[in-house]
Amino acid sequence: MARICFLFACAVFFRLTTAHGGVSNYTVGSTWYRGYSPEETPEAQVGQPWLINRPWAAIEPIYDPMSLAITCNSPGTPATSSIPIRAGQNISAIYYYWLHNVGPVVAWMASCNGPCSSPSFNASNADWFKIGQKGLLSGTIVEGMWFQHEFQDWSGAPNVWTETIPKDLKPGEYLIRHEIIALHIANQPQWYPECAHLKVSGKGKKVPGKKFLAKLPGAYSLSQPEIGIDIYSDEWYNRTTYNIPGPPVWNGE
Ligand SMILES: *[C@@H]1O[C@H](CO)[C@@H](O)[C@H](O)[C@H]1NC(C)=O
Ligand SMILES: *[C@@H]1O[C@H](CO)[C@@H](O)[C@H](O)[C@H]1NC(C)=O
Ligand SMILES: *[C@@H]1O[C@H](CO)[C@@H](O)[C@H](O)[C@H]1NC(C)=O
Ligand SMILES: *[C@@H]1O[C@H](CO)[C@@H](O)[C@H](O)[C@H]1NC(C)=O
Repeated sequence: MARICFLFACAVFFRLTTAHGGVSNYTVGSTWYRGYSPEETPEAQVGQPWLINRPWAAIEPIYDPMSLAITCNSPGTPATSSIPIRAGQNISAIYYYWLHNVGPVVAWMASCNGPCSSPSFNASNADWFKIGQKGLLSGTIVEGMWFQHEFQDWSGAPNVWTETIPKDLKPGEYLIRHEIIALHIANQPQWYPECAHLKVSGKGKKVPGKKFLAKLPGAYSLSQPEIGIDIYSDEWYNRTTYNIPGPPVWNGE
C-alpha cells in the first residue's frame, strides 16, 4: 500500500476499506440477496432466516494460505438459508469500493453432500472446484489492468463480478466461494474469501473429475511462484502473463 499511495489517499482508502472488504450482496437475475455485514452485530444476523452468507467477522485479509480461515473466512459458520439457482444461471457477487489493483479473483464451488448447514459437513474437507477466474486482462503485472481493478466503480454503484453455474451440474446444495487475492505487497499475498449457500436445481448429471478438485486450505502455498510473489521485482514487473494457480476451471464438461 505504501508503495502505491500517498498519505492522504491512504487515509481515504483506509476509511473506505474499513467499510467494505468483501462480498456485500449476491444477485441472481434481478433478485438481490443481502450478504453478511461485518459492520453490523453478529446477533442481528447469525441465525436470521434470510442469512445465505457464511459470517465473516472482519474485512481484514487472511495472510496464511494454510489457515482454516482460508476456506470460508472467519468464523465461516453455516448460514441459515440458501440462494436458489438453476444450473446454467448467472450469479453475481457485489462489492463496493474494492481498492486493490493487482491479483486474480477466483469463484469456487463445493458440494455439501447434503445440507450445507449440517454440522457434519466440514467445508475445509470439501472437494472444491473452480467455476470461473479472472486475472490480468491487459498490460503488465504491475501497471496493467486486472479484473479486480477493472470491475471497480467509484461512483457508488456496485462492483459486479458475474460467473455462471455450470449448466449440467448435478442439482443439490453447494457452497459458492468468491475469493480475491491481492498481490500489491511484495511477498505478502492477501486472501479475501467469502462463502454463500446455494440450492442448485436443474436436470444436470455432471460433477467435476479429480483433476478439477482442490482442498481449501491446500490449493495455495507461499512456495508457489505466483503466490509468494514480489510483483515489483525485475523478474515480474514487466511480464504480461500471470497463471492463476490451482486446478483448471470446470466448465461443466
Ligand atoms: C446488501 O447487503 C448489505 C449487507 O452486506 C445490506 O445492508 C444491503 O441492504 C444489501 N442490499 C440489497 C439491495 O440487498
Ligand atoms: C451470464 O454471464 C456471462 C458472462 O459474464 C454473460 O456473457 C452472459 O450474458 C450472462 N447471461 C445472462 C443471462 O445474464
Ligand atoms: C475440518 O477439517 C479440517 C481439515 O481436515 C480439520 O483441520 C478441522 O479440524 C475440521 N473441523 C472440524 C470441526 O472437524
Ligand atoms: C519495464 O519496462 C520499462 C519500459 O520498457 C523499463 O523502463 C523498465 O526498466 C522495466 N522495468 C523492469 C523492472 O524491468
